[in-house]
Amino acid sequence: MKHWQLQREDSGLVWATLDKQDAAANALSAEVLGEFKEILDQLDVYPPKALIIRSGKAAGFIAGADIEEFTQLDTADKGRALVERGWTLFNRLAAVNYPTLAIIRGHCLGGGLELALACRYLLAVDEPGTKMGLPEVMLGIFPGWGGMLRLPQRVGPAVALDMMLTGKTIDAKRAKRLGLADEAVPPRVMEQAARQLVLSGQARRKLPLLQRLLNGPFKAVVASGARKQVARKARPEHYPAPYAIIDIWAKHNGNALAAPELIDGIINSSTARNLVRVFFLQERLKAFGKESSFKAERVHVIGAGVMGGDIAAWCALRGMTVTLQDQSLERMSPALQRAGKLFDHRLRDPLLARAAFDRLIPDVNGDGVAHADVVIEAIFEDVAAKQALFKALEPRMKPGAILATNTSSLKLEDLRTVLQKPERLVGIHFFNPVAMMPLVEVVEAKGADPAVVQAACAFVRQIDKLPLPVKSEPGFLVNAVLAPYMLGAMAAVDAGISPETIDEAMLAFGMPMGPIELIDTVGLDIALAAGKQLASGAEPPRCLLERVKQGQLGKKTGQGFYTWADGKPGKAGAGAVPSGLALQLVTPLINRVEQLVAAGVVADADLADAGVIFGTGFAPFTGGPIHFRNKQH
Ligand code: COA
Repeated sequence: MKHWQLQREDSGLVWATLDKQDAAANALSAEVLGEFKEILDQLDVYPPKALIIRSGKAAGFIAGADIEEFTQLDTADKGRALVERGWTLFNRLAAVNYPTLAIIRGHCLGGGLELALACRYLLAVDEPGTKMGLPEVMLGIFPGWGGMLRLPQRVGPAVALDMMLTGKTIDAKRAKRLGLADEAVPPRVMEQAARQLVLSGQARRKLPLLQRLLNGPFKAVVASGARKQVARKARPEHYPAPYAIIDIWAKHNGNALAAPELIDGIINSSTARNLVRVFFLQERLKAFGKESSFKAERVHVIGAGVMGGDIAAWCALRGMTVTLQDQSLERMSPALQRAGKLFDHRLRDPLLARAAFDRLIPDVNGDGVAHADVVIEAIFEDVAAKQALFKALEPRMKPGAILATNTSSLKLEDLRTVLQKPERLVGIHFFNPVAMMPLVEVVEAKGADPAVVQAACAFVRQIDKLPLPVKSEPGFLVNAVLAPYMLGAMAAVDAGISPETIDEAMLAFGMPMGPIELIDTVGLDIALAAGKQLASGAEPPRCLLERVKQGQLGKKTGQGFYTWADGKPGKAGAGAVPSGLALQLVTPLINRVEQLVAAGVVADADLADAGVIFGTGFAPFTGGPIHFRNKQH
């Protein structure tokens, strides 16, 4: 076999190890599943005492179905055949009369978890990379290989639906707590523990009675609650898959083959095709981080404002030792408080949160500069101040360290004139809120050292963000395309359309937030400044000028286009949305993206689509602004 290795111990225990040929991660391609079927055939003839399934890859267990194959599903028959292939095979695995066990170490996603769920036992290896989930919904499809049947049986329908409808993953300890994993053990004992467990004859934990009722006679009640919850986040015309998951679980006991019309509607939907496209766009961004072996351990951030403070906290969260510099401890205190909240929220373990906090070191004197692998400047936007800072920093830095600026509006070519080695300055431009936004623009000034840009991309991956290389032009990609979009929205306000109606038009289009609420969130003063810089001399909208004059700067002052309370805008009902309004509002954005691609600010149209999706939340089911336009024509 090409992808699987089978070992039979004298005791009769069989180990099946998956190590997909020529691939970084194990994915369940048709060929891999075909070989697994052969394994089951063999074991039917020579039944083992027990079967243990594991991965031969250091990176993880199995990353799911082979997403490459989704791009070839051009007919309904092919879609149904794909579902049938895994559903039937895993049912067969679930029915074998010898005990089976999957060792889950690293990622175990989609079809990988469905395979593990079909085993009698699931042994999770407790280490930081272990995560289990059914993320199919994020690709616009459903877990059709038994996930919708077996996950609710293992953990109860509430937890299972939450995992299937959000795609979120859980770690080994949580999997054990929820009953998904039978055991969670450290790596050094995993094989021994697997042997013992698979031969133990131990009965599986039974789902509590209430959960069995919810997964049986009361399914309709749970389904109706779940539908309401989904409706708050995703419109069925944009994202049909979560609704199909609820229906297939509730009405067809998790068997998608019993509802072929749902398979056809979902697998061949433009949403699924576009979300698969977005997955591959994301892979392209990730690949930029693979071009350099640069690895950072220590980061020094200068400027503890909202951006600097949050960048420092994020790097500490991702395991780096971070020194944060500002003029005094008092100036750093709000940033440290926010960091504490971030660590508590994300790590959910007081010891880990404490360790992250210990890695974030206030550094008034800037002692960290000399040891840092990456120095990020995030002070106020002033050329002279930044130049003075860079001049002082350069001689103190390690020779191979990255010198980066988080500027969003200044030209790197102006900032670097004071450096001995101007080619070493790179832009690493984060978005607000840092913890939420996956994209980071890596800005290449004219004549920059390509190795530095590649190293900056590798650093961005190391902190688990998506790097997008862009050229040093005002607004780079993301802010440059948002400016005409926001200006257009405010022009519509000046033309008498209510902010609520404008926001509703864009929510219905599929944006995560309406443009007027976005302006309130960013700050009207910031929007005014950005507009002046990026709108090539056009008059600012009246509605913006008036509000700024009155000090109504948006969320931060409690009043902007909306009145804000408890962090939420008070909105009146939206009026009827005039037909064509959404298209009218999104057109300046798309035009700008096309101009920036033509000008070479971003290398090609696909990368521009990726940048706008991951940098602004632009409706992912459309496949990105340029893809959307091309499909319209
Ligand atoms: N199908 C096909 N290829 C896959 C894959 C899948 N399900 N999952 C990962 N890969 C490939 C990637 O394209 C990449 O290929 P490359 O080496 O040619 O660049 C390689 O495996 C490594 O993946 P990468 O994303 O670079 O590694 P990572 O460590 O950052 O992330 C995962 C690993 C598994 C977390 C991530 O790839 C992922 O989320 N995969 C998709 C999971 C999913 O949605 N599964 C459900 C499918 S129905």
